Amino acid sequence: MATVSRNHPWWQDAIVYEVYPRSFADSDGDGIGDLAGVRSRLPYLSELGVDAIWMTPFYPSPLADGGYDVSDYRDVDPRLGTLAGFDELVADAAGYGIRVIVDLVPNHCSAEHPYFRAALAAAPGSPEREMFIFHDGRGRDGAEPPNNWQSVFHGAAWTRVTEPGGRPGQWYLHLFDRGQPDWNWRNPAVNAYFEEVIRFWLGRRAAGLRIDVAHGLFKDPGLADVTEQPLAHRPSAYYHRAELHELYRLWRVILDSYVPGEFPGARTAVGEVWYDSPATLMPYLAETGLPQVFNFQLILARWDAADMRQAIEAVEGMAGGDRAPWVIGNHDVPRPVSRYAAGLGGAPNDSAPLPRVGDPELRAGMRRARAAALLMLALPGSAYIYQGEELGLPEVVELPDEARQDPAFRRSGGTARGRDGCRVPLPWTSTGSSFGFSTGNRQGGHAAPWLPQPGYWGHYSVATQIGDPGSFLSLYRAALTLRRTHPALGRGSDDDPGTPLMTWQDSAPRTLCFTREPGFTFAANLGQATVPMPPHARVLLASDPVTDGKLPPDTAVWLAS
Ligand code: NOJ
Repeated sequence: MATVSRNHPWWQDAIVYEVYPRSFADSDGDGIGDLAGVRSRLPYLSELGVDAIWMTPFYPSPLADGGYDVSDYRDVDPRLGTLAGFDELVADAAGYGIRVIVDLVPNHCSAEHPYFRAALAAAPGSPEREMFIFHDGRGRDGAEPPNNWQSVFHGAAWTRVTEPGGRPGQWYLHLFDRGQPDWNWRNPAVNAYFEEVIRFWLGRRAAGLRIDVAHGLFKDPGLADVTEQPLAHRPSAYYHRAELHELYRLWRVILDSYVPGEFPGARTAVGEVWYDSPATLMPYLAETGLPQVFNFQLILARWDAADMRQAIEAVEGMAGGDRAPWVIGNHDVPRPVSRYAAGLGGAPNDSAPLPRVGDPELRAGMRRARAAALLMLALPGSAYIYQGEELGLPEVVELPDEARQDPAFRRSGGTARGRDGCRVPLPWTSTGSSFGFSTGNRQGGHAAPWLPQPGYWGHYSVATQIGDPGSFLSLYRAALTLRRTHPALGRGSDDDPGTPLMTWQDSAPRTLCFTREPGFTFAANLGQATVPMPPHARVLLASDPVTDGKLPPDTAVWLAS
């Protein structure tokens, strides 16, 4: 859906829909979603009212980490399509006014990447090894890893290789799975390679890049031991190094060289930066840096008014939602419905227990996720919606162990649940062997979806929800329509630069209330008791039915004021 023409880059108030391609729509019946599947569902995305889609990796990959292990940065995995198919997707999406953002994975590649294979075949100290972080081990015969760094997915962040002559040799660094060797960003050849990759996709009319692990890349050259391990997300020997910002200045120059004008216009890049505190995020928000970095505060916040308000204010003080888009979910954290039901904030690799479908607390989780959606979509700036959020999908907690594919599950020996539960292929129809996920037919019918869908999945399907005015999907569609047309919403009015984009209003404990000009009030009740609604002329939209000027628990409203 084209953004209302205002005098600013499209991405500043865009609604971007995250597509996890393997789980979105399967056009050829092999049980794996593909690019043609995404193309076939563009009318759905257009009706939903999104401005852009972010495609998580669709590149050739051995799938050690769901495609975040890239073996060729300039091609499409044959299971998902072809480069020509990507171009067709971009062109078809443009016809609906939808832009396509691609995922750039610069911290690591796949162990199957030709450069890494060449590094394995070459000698220690060779230019081939210098593309990655190889080092001799410690201890007798170098049998211990070079330092104490731990993988995000459990265990040591180092794997020992067998040298071409057959003897045990050096170690290579992988902050994630052993199938994901880290690039050596101190080598200019790595920089030059990624510049080519960036230009390759922008040249194919990608509207921007989502940058994976944008706080990683540069490592302390001394490889010093650390006292805290990766999930702390604090500045350390491997996270948030100052050298990153020079790199992002260079990338910004490349992005800005694609002049606005012809669709898709100005290009964006949004960094995936996990941080321990907003202060750590601050350097990424420099004017000359990446156009955008995710604001993960709403993902991290619990369903609690004080937590939510703090989450909104924490980054807002440094940058608006135009620079730091809002998100309540993605493919790395448990689904909002289940999280809010359990009273949790979301964190990647979180393994806290979550309710099952049928558990009474899931009803509250549904109400809260609806209200959270209205909160996010009322905030100034841009927001990202993860596929299935608009259907209110719960986390699939009952996946059998043998079906789970997340390396976090495997490497932890099953102690970490992993992220498969938010990646189950979408239900499009209420019945059928794959609930409409697979449409094409191979000989003998469809292959089963790559992750099993639960029996109750059809209840959440697009087909079930589309005609129901009370459904999750109808709420998202109504909110996105209003957001596009209401002058106070999105980025807000440019008319008077002195007008604040949002103003908090005093409200009862356990509630949130803010206004935006002209004439918009947001109110939410995160408590257990019904409270009066703020003064208003009329209810524009409510996350659940409201009557008589009262705001029930776990409900949010958009008001005309
Ligand atoms: C962040 C991605 O979102 C996640 O899915 C992946 O496992 C890691 N980065 C490593 O690439």
